[in-house]
Amino acid sequence: MHIKPIAAGLGAEIVGIDLAQPLDTATLGELRQAWLKYLVLLFRGQTLTPQQLIDFSAAFAPLETHESYQPELRHPDHTELLVVKASEVGGRRIVFGQQWHSDLSYTTRPSLGSCLYCRKLPSVGGDTLFANMYMAYDELSPAMQRMLEKLEVVHDLSNGRSLRNASHEAREGARRRNPPVAQPAVRVHPETGRKALYISEWMCPRFVGMSEEESSGLLRFLFDHSVQEPFTMRQRWRVDDVLMWDNRATIHMALADYAIGEPRELLRTSMMGEDCGRLLQEAAE
Ligand code: SIN
Repeated sequence: MHIKPIAAGLGAEIVGIDLAQPLDTATLGELRQAWLKYLVLLFRGQTLTPQQLIDFSAAFAPLETHESYQPELRHPDHTELLVVKASEVGGRRIVFGQQWHSDLSYTTRPSLGSCLYCRKLPSVGGDTLFANMYMAYDELSPAMQRMLEKLEVVHDLSNGRSLRNASHEAREGARRRNPPVAQPAVRVHPETGRKALYISEWMCPRFVGMSEEESSGLLRFLFDHSVQEPFTMRQRWRVDDVLMWDNRATIHMALADYAIGEPRELLRTSMMGEDCGRLLQEAAE
């Protein structure tokens, strides 16, 4: 197994592994260490059945069964798989994951990590961006780090651009299924013990105990700060790529820069993570 870094901030390609074969304990241990170090791992040219993708992902953690996702995104035969593709709502194209986020951060059991397996690609565009949230935290001044360590942030699925522009009913329905939660602004990674900034533009409207107006200046700074180029990598997809990432120390977004009507389809598994955050007691909290 050979490791080729993708960008200075994060990401590595793993060469010389066939994910269709069962992996022995030593190889899985090496992969986990590489994953904790590089945060995003890429395996090119993989020929996998849906079940083989599930088996590979489940070697790292138990998998989500995606009950809270829209039915049209869930794989018809495998509850562990999401079919990631653009949808149309009211004549507008919605690209899944098109704002910065960390998977399931709007729940009190956020996802540990996710895998994507690329099945169809548009003729141009459709890359995915990732940012290293350890670096985002490390590069803040010590006074800002200390202040953020005392704060919680609201994570609310309905804060996203697609739902903000949807009907009142659609937004309220999403909020009922996924009520907003409070997450620490700085999360300690359960395996490495390192601190990572835990905010994202999709999910976070405000700090807990503050209004949106009071929060917006600092949140805007942190959103921009955390996705500076030196902290990021870009996944330029090829069909048959498998990509796995650590949601506890990264955020990501799918680029909606491909033509409407062109196909882009990936299968996703989501690994169950540790308990983190709490339900808000009341809307005004
Ligand atoms: C996701 O947010 O899980 C999907 C990312 C992508 O489609 O590139």
